[in-house]
Amino acid sequence: MSVQEKDEYTHSAGGHEVTVGIFDSGIGGLGVLHEAVCALPQARFLFYADRAHVPYGERSEREILSYAEEITAFLRERGCAAIVIACNTATSVAAEALREHYRGEGLPIIGMEPAVKPALEWEPEGPVLVIATPVTVREHKLQALLERLDATHRVHVHPMPELVRFAEGERFEDPAVEAYLAEELMPYVEAGIQSVVLGCTHFNYFVPQLRALFGPGVRLFDGNDGTVRHLAALLGLQAESEPDGRFRESAFDQTRITCFDSGVEITDPAELAFFSRLHARFAQTRQ
Ligand code: DGL
Repeated sequence: MSVQEKDEYTHSAGGHEVTVGIFDSGIGGLGVLHEAVCALPQARFLFYADRAHVPYGERSEREILSYAEEITAFLRERGCAAIVIACNTATSVAAEALREHYRGEGLPIIGMEPAVKPALEWEPEGPVLVIATPVTVREHKLQALLERLDATHRVHVHPMPELVRFAEGERFEDPAVEAYLAEELMPYVEAGIQSVVLGCTHFNYFVPQLRALFGPGVRLFDGNDGTVRHLAALLGLQAESEPDGRFRESAFDQTRITCFDSGVEITDPAELAFFSRLHARFAQTRQ
């Protein structure tokens, strides 16, 4: 990156207290960005979607680690004071290594993990379902979390890789999504599960279909809100909330958000309009 380019990113934090980098394999991380943009009006954001390499959930640990390292260095170079891994899969594989690497520089690395704890607390006796990518399901991190929290083995874990493909293919309302959800999840619906953890940020795009399948009593848990509260606490920032505790809704403001697609800044108005529409969609489906 040229010195001039670097200056441009660093100085454009001016007017805002801090620049935060948020990354995901693709558009799933826009749900985390949405919460962060609403919660932290004093921050500006660099959002990096690694769409050239999505889906991470079906790649090797080595590949995922190398992408996460490259992206973190990219965001760091552009002046980010904290990095949010808006991806459960990349967190499982790379968060520890990244924290170790950046410890000396004091760069906070905020990861995500499936919101098992609130789900178990909300459902004090019955079963809980966690859906995630194949990598998250098999990684040690989730297994260790379940060993710690789920002594009575109430948690069922199910990989749903196709949901990532549907989201990236922008097939949000496709009947094939409903068919896939029914095929994979009907046994859990029939078992009366009412507590479902969205262990992949791409799955938030299918909240309406999941509600329709499990019925009106279902409670869906994601880690977006908790991740942003953690980010705010680490940066010593006050999160802007409504009286009901939700973050105050805020538009997709391009003076505060710069987006990258696998290292290339997104400037195409049609693509930015698409991201802006997804941002608005999260306003309607947030938990
Ligand atoms: N959005 C990511 C997650 O939260 C991963 C999706 C993928 O690339 O497989 O796990």
